[in-house]
Amino acid sequence: MKRILIFASGSGSNAENIIDYFWRRPNMSIRFEIFTNNKNAGVIDRARRLHIPCALIEREQFNDEKFLEAIGEVDLIILAGFLWLVPEYLTKAFSGKIINIHPALLPAYGGKGMYGDRVHKAVIDNKEKRSGITIHHVNEKYDEGEVIVQATCKVETNESPETLAGKIHRLEFAYFPIVIEQLIEG
Ligand code: GAR
Repeated sequence: MKRILIFASGSGSNAENIIDYFWRRPNMSIRFEIFTNNKNAGVIDRARRLHIPCALIEREQFNDEKFLEAIGEVDLIILAGFLWLVPEYLTKAFSGKIINIHPALLPAYGGKGMYGDRVHKAVIDNKEKRSGITIHHVNEKYDEGEVIVQATCKVETNESPETLAGKIHRLEFAYFPIVIEQLIEG
């Protein structure tokens, strides 16, 4: 039995898509747990509906090394729309076992404060012809860990942050579970 933790701050559609993907593969026995830093996050309702344990974390707790005890043994930590910087004690303890998804083609449009629709708005404002997703390892700097995979989509001239977000989510739903599967099998 593998144990995977998902950290999410928002709606949690990626978290649900990942869980759903592995439920369709009953030969892969995986236990999921969700952590969120946002008491109003949509991911909390999703977790309830999916019967997945979901815990709220405070920043002080997250930044304190004692949090390692709460985490325990894990096979993979997934950041799926999680907005806090991961502290160094965690990136060191789980080196190669923490991955993030970013809704743009890093190193462009990454870094602190670049998340969700802010990214899509910046891409459209700069009249980019293409955007996409980056799945990468996590180090102690925002969006700077080693890239695992990128996938691209077209940005139309009349694109809005909402329509671009839709395209990006479709890419995320297609790629993220497959990358996770390869990592935990490899
Ligand atoms: C996703 O598009 C993810 O790439 C992005 O937040 C969204 C979360 O959606 N992450 C970042 O911007 C991280 N910098 P979700 O809550 O519906 O999965």
